[in-house]
Amino acid sequence: MNTSLQNTNGNKLSERDFRRISDVIYKHCGINLHDGKEPLVRARLAKRMRTLKYDSFRKYIDFALSDAGKHEFHSLVDSLSTNLTSFFREKSHFEYLIDPFLPKLLEIKSRLSDHKIRIWSAGCSSGEEPYSLAITLIENIPDYQKWDVKILASDVSTQILDRAKQGTYDQSRVKPLTREQKRRFLVPNNIEGEKVYQASRELQSIISFRYLNLMKEWPFKGPFDIIFCRNVMIYFDKPTQARLVGRFGKCLAKGGVFCIGHSESLAGINHQYRFAQPATYIKE
Ligand SMILES: C[S@@+](CC[C@H](N)C(=O)[O-])C[C@H]1O[C@@H](n2cnc3c(N)ncnc32)[C@H](O)[C@@H]1O
Repeated sequence: MNTSLQNTNGNKLSERDFRRISDVIYKHCGINLHDGKEPLVRARLAKRMRTLKYDSFRKYIDFALSDAGKHEFHSLVDSLSTNLTSFFREKSHFEYLIDPFLPKLLEIKSRLSDHKIRIWSAGCSSGEEPYSLAITLIENIPDYQKWDVKILASDVSTQILDRAKQGTYDQSRVKPLTREQKRRFLVPNNIEGEKVYQASRELQSIISFRYLNLMKEWPFKGPFDIIFCRNVMIYFDKPTQARLVGRFGKCLAKGGVFCIGHSESLAGINHQYRFAQPATYIKE
Protein backbone atom coordinates (compact mmCIF):
# COMPACT_ATOMS: atom_id res chain seq x y z
CA MET A 1 0.00 0.00 0.00
CA ASN A 2 1.19 3.56 -0.67
CA THR A 3 2.32 5.29 2.51
CA SER A 4 0.49 8.42 1.45
CA LEU A 5 -1.95 9.64 -1.14
CA GLN A 6 -2.01 13.08 -2.56
CA ASN A 7 -5.06 15.21 -3.25
CA THR A 8 -5.17 17.90 -5.88
CA ASN A 9 -3.83 20.53 -3.46
CA GLY A 10 -0.67 18.55 -2.91
CA ASN A 11 -1.91 17.69 0.58
CA LYS A 12 -1.50 14.03 1.60
CA LEU A 13 -3.66 11.46 3.33
CA SER A 14 -1.07 9.52 5.31
CA GLU A 15 -1.41 5.81 5.95
CA ARG A 16 -1.74 6.61 9.66
CA ASP A 17 -4.64 9.02 9.06
CA PHE A 18 -6.34 6.54 6.72
CA ARG A 19 -6.09 3.93 9.50
CA ARG A 20 -7.48 6.36 12.08
CA ILE A 21 -10.54 6.93 9.91
CA SER A 22 -11.03 3.29 8.93
CA ASP A 23 -10.67 2.10 12.57
CA VAL A 24 -13.09 4.65 13.93
CA ILE A 25 -15.69 4.02 11.18
CA TYR A 26 -15.40 0.25 11.69
CA LYS A 27 -15.96 0.62 15.42
CA HIS A 28 -18.83 3.06 14.93
CA CYS A 29 -20.92 1.37 12.24
CA GLY A 30 -19.15 -1.79 11.08
CA ILE A 31 -18.27 -0.46 7.62
CA ASN A 32 -15.06 -2.19 6.54
CA LEU A 33 -12.86 0.41 4.83
CA HIS A 34 -10.09 -1.97 3.75
CA ASP A 35 -6.99 -0.89 1.81
CA GLY A 36 -8.86 -1.03 -1.53
CA LYS A 37 -11.17 1.72 -0.26
CA GLU A 38 -8.38 4.29 0.15
CA PRO A 39 -9.15 6.23 -3.04
CA LEU A 40 -12.83 6.42 -2.05
CA VAL A 41 -12.00 7.62 1.46
CA ARG A 42 -9.58 10.22 0.12
CA ALA A 43 -12.12 11.54 -2.42
CA ARG A 44 -14.96 11.71 0.13
CA LEU A 45 -12.78 13.40 2.75
CA ALA A 46 -11.52 15.89 0.18
CA LYS A 47 -15.12 16.80 -0.63
CA ARG A 48 -15.95 17.46 3.03
CA MET A 49 -12.70 19.45 3.34
CA ARG A 50 -13.62 21.65 0.39
CA THR A 51 -17.03 22.33 1.94
CA LEU A 52 -15.50 23.25 5.30
CA LYS A 53 -12.44 24.95 3.77
CA TYR A 54 -9.83 22.68 5.35
CA ASP A 55 -6.54 22.38 3.47
CA SER A 56 -5.06 19.51 5.49
CA PHE A 57 -6.37 15.95 5.92
CA ARG A 58 -4.72 15.76 9.34
CA LYS A 59 -6.45 18.91 10.62
CA TYR A 60 -9.81 17.88 9.21
CA ILE A 61 -9.59 14.39 10.74
CA ASP A 62 -8.48 15.81 14.12
CA PHE A 63 -11.54 18.05 14.06
CA ALA A 64 -14.02 15.36 12.92
CA LEU A 65 -12.83 13.01 15.68
CA SER A 66 -12.84 15.65 18.42
CA ASP A 67 -15.70 16.46 20.83
CA ALA A 68 -16.24 19.79 19.06
CA GLY A 69 -16.54 17.94 15.74
CA LYS A 70 -19.34 15.51 16.75
CA HIS A 71 -21.71 16.99 14.21
CA GLU A 72 -19.08 16.73 11.47
CA PHE A 73 -18.45 13.10 12.43
CA HIS A 74 -22.04 12.31 11.42
CA SER A 75 -21.49 14.06 8.09
CA LEU A 76 -18.33 12.02 7.66
CA VAL A 77 -20.27 8.78 8.27
CA ASP A 78 -22.91 9.99 5.77
CA SER A 79 -20.25 10.69 3.19
CA LEU A 80 -18.54 7.31 3.61
CA SER A 81 -21.67 5.15 3.40
CA THR A 82 -23.04 3.94 0.09
CA ASN A 83 -26.73 4.74 -0.32
CA LEU A 84 -27.53 3.19 -3.69
CA THR A 85 -31.14 2.00 -3.75
CA SER A 86 -34.29 2.04 -5.91
CA PHE A 87 -38.01 1.27 -5.82
CA PHE A 88 -38.71 -2.48 -6.04
CA ARG A 89 -35.00 -3.24 -6.18
CA GLU A 90 -34.41 -7.00 -6.44
CA LYS A 91 -38.00 -7.63 -7.48
CA SER A 92 -38.02 -11.32 -6.58
CA HIS A 93 -38.26 -10.41 -2.87
CA PHE A 94 -41.47 -8.48 -3.45
CA GLU A 95 -42.81 -11.30 -5.64
CA TYR A 96 -42.05 -13.76 -2.85
CA LEU A 97 -43.99 -11.61 -0.38
CA ILE A 98 -47.00 -11.50 -2.73
CA ASP A 99 -46.91 -15.25 -3.21
CA PRO A 100 -46.44 -17.41 -1.17
CA PHE A 101 -45.46 -15.44 1.94
CA LEU A 102 -48.33 -12.99 2.58
CA PRO A 103 -51.29 -15.33 1.91
CA LYS A 104 -49.82 -17.85 4.33
CA LEU A 105 -49.01 -15.22 6.96
CA LEU A 106 -52.53 -13.73 6.74
CA GLU A 107 -54.11 -17.15 7.06
CA ILE A 108 -52.10 -18.06 10.16
CA LYS A 109 -52.61 -14.67 11.80
CA SER A 110 -56.36 -14.66 11.02
CA ARG A 111 -56.71 -18.00 12.77
CA LEU A 112 -54.99 -16.54 15.84
CA SER A 113 -57.03 -13.27 15.62
CA ASP A 114 -53.69 -11.44 15.49
CA HIS A 115 -53.98 -8.57 13.03
CA LYS A 116 -50.57 -7.02 13.57
CA ILE A 117 -47.98 -7.17 10.82
CA ARG A 118 -44.55 -5.80 11.70
CA ILE A 119 -41.82 -5.15 9.18
CA TRP A 120 -38.29 -3.81 9.49
CA SER A 121 -36.31 -2.26 6.66
CA ALA A 122 -32.84 -2.17 8.24
CA GLY A 123 -30.56 0.13 6.25
CA CYS A 124 -33.44 1.81 4.42
CA SER A 125 -31.32 4.49 2.70
CA SER A 126 -33.48 7.17 0.99
CA GLY A 127 -36.73 5.27 1.60
CA GLU A 128 -37.47 3.49 -1.68
CA GLU A 129 -37.28 0.09 0.05
CA PRO A 130 -39.81 0.76 2.87
CA TYR A 131 -42.14 2.62 0.48
CA SER A 132 -42.01 -0.39 -1.89
CA LEU A 133 -42.80 -2.66 1.06
CA ALA A 134 -45.74 -0.45 2.06
CA ILE A 135 -47.12 -0.49 -1.50
CA THR A 136 -46.75 -4.27 -1.69
CA LEU A 137 -48.65 -4.79 1.54
CA ILE A 138 -51.43 -2.31 0.84
CA GLU A 139 -51.98 -3.78 -2.62
CA ASN A 140 -51.84 -7.41 -1.61
CA ILE A 141 -53.74 -7.66 1.67
CA PRO A 142 -57.35 -8.20 0.56
CA ASP A 143 -59.05 -6.64 3.60
CA TYR A 144 -56.18 -4.27 4.35
CA GLN A 145 -58.21 -1.90 6.58
CA LYS A 146 -58.69 -4.55 9.23
CA TRP A 147 -54.93 -5.09 9.59
CA ASP A 148 -52.50 -3.11 11.70
CA VAL A 149 -49.44 -2.82 9.45
CA LYS A 150 -46.34 -0.96 10.65
CA ILE A 151 -42.95 -0.61 9.04
CA LEU A 152 -39.83 0.43 10.91
CA ALA A 153 -37.33 1.98 8.48
CA SER A 154 -33.90 2.65 9.97
CA ASP A 155 -30.50 3.87 8.89
CA VAL A 156 -27.26 5.14 10.39
CA SER A 157 -27.05 8.09 7.99
CA THR A 158 -29.01 11.07 9.30
CA GLN A 159 -28.83 12.88 5.99
CA ILE A 160 -30.26 9.99 3.99
CA LEU A 161 -32.97 9.43 6.62
CA ASP A 162 -34.12 13.03 6.20
CA ARG A 163 -34.54 12.36 2.49
CA ALA A 164 -36.41 9.14 3.23
CA LYS A 165 -38.78 10.95 5.59
CA GLN A 166 -39.41 13.63 2.99
CA GLY A 167 -40.23 10.92 0.43
CA THR A 168 -39.80 13.18 -2.60
CA TYR A 169 -38.46 11.57 -5.75
CA ASP A 170 -37.78 12.83 -9.26
CA GLN A 171 -39.35 11.27 -12.34
CA SER A 172 -36.47 8.92 -13.12
CA ARG A 173 -36.56 7.35 -9.64
CA VAL A 174 -40.27 6.48 -9.75
CA LYS A 175 -40.00 4.66 -13.10
CA PRO A 176 -40.24 1.16 -11.53
CA LEU A 177 -43.78 1.97 -10.29
CA THR A 178 -46.70 1.12 -12.56
CA ARG A 179 -48.97 3.92 -13.76
CA GLU A 180 -51.64 2.73 -11.31
CA GLN A 181 -49.16 2.70 -8.39
CA LYS A 182 -48.06 6.25 -9.23
CA ARG A 183 -51.66 7.40 -9.36
CA ARG A 184 -52.57 5.74 -6.09
CA PHE A 185 -49.45 6.22 -3.95
CA LEU A 186 -47.64 9.34 -5.20
CA VAL A 187 -48.63 12.97 -5.16
CA PRO A 188 -47.20 14.97 -8.08
CA ASN A 189 -45.56 18.23 -7.14
CA ASN A 190 -43.41 20.89 -8.71
CA ILE A 191 -40.17 22.02 -7.09
CA GLU A 192 -38.34 24.86 -8.82
CA GLY A 193 -39.86 23.91 -12.16
CA GLU A 194 -38.99 20.23 -11.82
CA LYS A 195 -41.73 17.62 -11.65
CA VAL A 196 -41.35 15.50 -8.53
CA TYR A 197 -43.43 12.88 -6.73
CA GLN A 198 -44.18 12.75 -3.04
CA ALA A 199 -45.00 9.55 -1.16
CA SER A 200 -48.67 9.72 -0.17
CA ARG A 201 -49.94 10.18 3.40
CA GLU A 202 -51.23 6.61 3.30
CA LEU A 203 -47.68 5.31 2.77
CA GLN A 204 -46.13 7.74 5.26
CA SER A 205 -48.67 6.83 7.94
CA ILE A 206 -47.49 3.23 8.27
CA ILE A 207 -43.73 3.89 8.17
CA SER A 208 -41.64 5.16 11.09
CA PHE A 209 -38.22 6.40 10.05
CA ARG A 210 -35.64 6.10 12.84
CA TYR A 211 -31.93 6.62 13.27
CA LEU A 212 -30.51 3.25 14.25
CA ASN A 213 -26.94 2.04 14.17
CA LEU A 214 -27.03 -1.73 13.66
CA MET A 215 -23.77 -2.05 15.59
CA LYS A 216 -25.32 -0.68 18.79
CA GLU A 217 -28.11 -1.84 21.11
CA TRP A 218 -31.53 -2.07 19.44
CA PRO A 219 -34.29 -0.43 21.52
CA PHE A 220 -36.85 -3.16 20.71
CA LYS A 221 -37.13 -6.92 20.61
CA GLY A 222 -39.60 -7.43 17.79
CA PRO A 223 -41.00 -9.80 16.80
CA PHE A 224 -41.06 -8.77 13.15
CA ASP A 225 -42.80 -10.82 10.47
CA ILE A 226 -40.56 -9.48 7.72
CA ILE A 227 -37.00 -8.19 7.96
CA PHE A 228 -35.23 -6.69 4.96
CA CYS A 229 -31.53 -6.04 5.47
CA ARG A 230 -30.39 -5.84 1.89
CA ASN A 231 -27.11 -4.53 0.55
CA VAL A 232 -26.00 -3.40 3.99
CA MET A 233 -24.01 -6.34 5.36
CA ILE A 234 -21.93 -6.41 2.19
CA TYR A 235 -19.97 -3.49 3.71
CA PHE A 236 -19.24 -5.48 6.91
CA ASP A 237 -16.69 -8.22 7.55
CA LYS A 238 -17.76 -11.86 8.10
CA PRO A 239 -17.69 -11.87 11.94
CA THR A 240 -19.84 -8.69 11.99
CA GLN A 241 -22.24 -10.22 9.45
CA ALA A 242 -22.49 -13.42 11.53
CA ARG A 243 -23.30 -11.47 14.71
CA LEU A 244 -25.96 -9.43 12.91
CA VAL A 245 -27.59 -12.43 11.26
CA GLY A 246 -27.96 -13.98 14.75
CA ARG A 247 -29.42 -10.77 16.18
CA PHE A 248 -31.94 -10.44 13.32
CA GLY A 249 -32.97 -14.06 13.99
CA LYS A 250 -33.83 -13.16 17.60
CA CYS A 251 -36.12 -10.33 16.41
CA LEU A 252 -37.90 -12.36 13.74
CA ALA A 253 -41.12 -14.24 14.49
CA LYS A 254 -41.18 -17.98 13.86
CA GLY A 255 -42.06 -18.41 10.18
CA GLY A 256 -40.96 -14.82 9.47
CA VAL A 257 -38.95 -13.95 6.38
CA PHE A 258 -35.44 -12.49 6.29
CA CYS A 259 -34.23 -10.97 3.02
CA ILE A 260 -30.64 -10.04 2.24
CA GLY A 261 -29.18 -8.60 -0.97
CA HIS A 262 -28.60 -10.99 -3.88
CA SER A 263 -24.89 -10.17 -3.84
CA GLU A 264 -24.71 -11.11 -0.15
CA SER A 265 -24.52 -14.57 1.31
CA LEU A 266 -25.06 -16.48 4.54
CA ALA A 267 -22.44 -19.02 3.44
CA GLY A 268 -20.05 -19.80 6.28
CA ILE A 269 -22.45 -18.35 8.86
CA ASN A 270 -24.14 -20.58 11.43
CA HIS A 271 -27.81 -19.60 11.29
CA GLN A 272 -31.32 -20.69 12.20
CA TYR A 273 -33.07 -20.02 8.88
CA ARG A 274 -34.44 -22.26 6.15
CA PHE A 275 -33.48 -21.32 2.59
CA ALA A 276 -36.63 -20.29 0.67
CA GLN A 277 -35.19 -18.84 -2.56
CA PRO A 278 -32.00 -16.89 -3.35
CA ALA A 279 -31.34 -14.25 -0.67
CA THR A 280 -34.61 -15.18 1.10
CA TYR A 281 -34.73 -17.12 4.37
CA ILE A 282 -37.46 -18.29 6.73
CA LYS A 283 -36.99 -18.59 10.48
CA GLU A 284 -37.73 -22.16 11.50
C1 LIG B 1 -26.63 0.42 -0.27
S1 LIG B 1 -27.77 1.03 0.90
C2 LIG B 1 -29.02 -0.22 0.83
C3 LIG B 1 -30.42 0.35 0.77
C4 LIG B 1 -31.54 -0.68 0.64
N1 LIG B 1 -31.56 -1.60 1.73
C5 LIG B 1 -31.45 -1.41 -0.67
O1 LIG B 1 -31.06 -2.58 -0.72
O2 LIG B 1 -31.75 -0.79 -1.71
C6 LIG B 1 -26.93 0.67 2.43
C7 LIG B 1 -27.47 1.45 3.60
O3 LIG B 1 -26.99 0.88 4.82
C8 LIG B 1 -26.75 1.91 5.74
N2 LIG B 1 -25.84 1.44 6.80
C9 LIG B 1 -24.52 1.19 6.71
N3 LIG B 1 -24.03 0.85 7.92
C10 LIG B 1 -25.07 0.86 8.78
C11 LIG B 1 -25.21 0.59 10.19
N4 LIG B 1 -24.17 0.25 10.93
N5 LIG B 1 -26.42 0.73 10.74
C12 LIG B 1 -27.50 1.08 9.98
N6 LIG B 1 -27.44 1.35 8.66
C13 LIG B 1 -26.24 1.22 8.07
C14 LIG B 1 -26.16 3.02 4.87
O4 LIG B 1 -26.26 4.29 5.48
C15 LIG B 1 -26.99 2.90 3.60
O5 LIG B 1 -28.08 3.78 3.59
